[in-house]
Amino acid sequence: ESTLGAAAAQSGRYFGTAIAAGKLGDSNYTTIANREFNMVTAENEMKIDATEPNRGQFTFTNGDRVYNWAVQNGKRVRGHTLAWHQQQPGWMQSLSGSSLRQAMIDHINGVMGHYKGKIYAWDVVNEAFADGNSGGRRDSNLQRTGNDWIEVAFRTARAADPAAKLCYNDYNIDNWSWAKTQGVYNMVRDFKSRGVPIDCVGLQSHFNSNSPYNSNYRTTIQSFAALGVDVQITELDIQGGSATTYANVVNDCLAVARCTGITVWGVRDTDSWLGSGASALLFDGNGNKKAAYTSVLNAL
Ligand code: XIL
Repeated sequence: ESTLGAAAAQSGRYFGTAIAAGKLGDSNYTTIANREFNMVTAENEMKIDATEPNRGQFTFTNGDRVYNWAVQNGKRVRGHTLAWHQQQPGWMQSLSGSSLRQAMIDHINGVMGHYKGKIYAWDVVNEAFADGNSGGRRDSNLQRTGNDWIEVAFRTARAADPAAKLCYNDYNIDNWSWAKTQGVYNMVRDFKSRGVPIDCVGLQSHFNSNSPYNSNYRTTIQSFAALGVDVQITELDIQGGSATTYANVVNDCLAVARCTGITVWGVRDTDSWLGSGASALLFDGNGNKKAAYTSVLNAL
């Protein structure tokens, strides 16, 4: 096959990218994105601050720009993200307790209602676990509403759009030996055992020198899948752009039936949230295919 999306489809998987609404007028960007990818995540446009800038007042202008571009070009869409401690609008940052809990529920209903039946998978909760060795939850205004906030978010999400897969998404849960990975694993196991609706785990997979790719990544994917959830690689980028590491990531996903797709977090190095100097993506700033691109395509 000659594109990432078509190559991934040979095994029933998808290959996606993050799309920014503000770049849809850049024809170099849209040409590559349209040709290579068959799944789209809005890089920022479906986040809490973007979709509910004032409490109870929802805005989908930019989210819909990304959504419509994707669907008009035959691509599916991952929703990102509904409950997160980052990119909260000011009004939400200043809430706490039961009013914040209700605002979270209302937000999930508002955004999922707008996109009901249209989204392949939602990152319902993003980055709720702590970094470091505790294996526990991250302190946040949402966490301070009560430890059950994550399952409340998932139950709300299931009712709001029963057709969407519901994912828990996080970074630094790639390395099986890390406490944070084990913390998330224990939560998913608990949710499955108690019937809390969860369908997938998103491994963001932002690899860099502090959190490098480790060969136990395949064990991580296999272990989550064995709990009865899909695994998706949701925000892949590799600082330095190692072609070998990119191939390892693809091979690890392909080794596990329930690893259903891979999304890279941007199109060209110049589109990366890490800056072009990180050289973390598959196309250079001019849109040329990098060695990592060929490595991924051959591995798929
Ligand atoms: C990043 C975007 O790429 C940036 O444009 C924005 O300024 C900050 O957020 N984990 C996530 C993503 O779940 O939403 C983040 O995206 C990258 C880290």
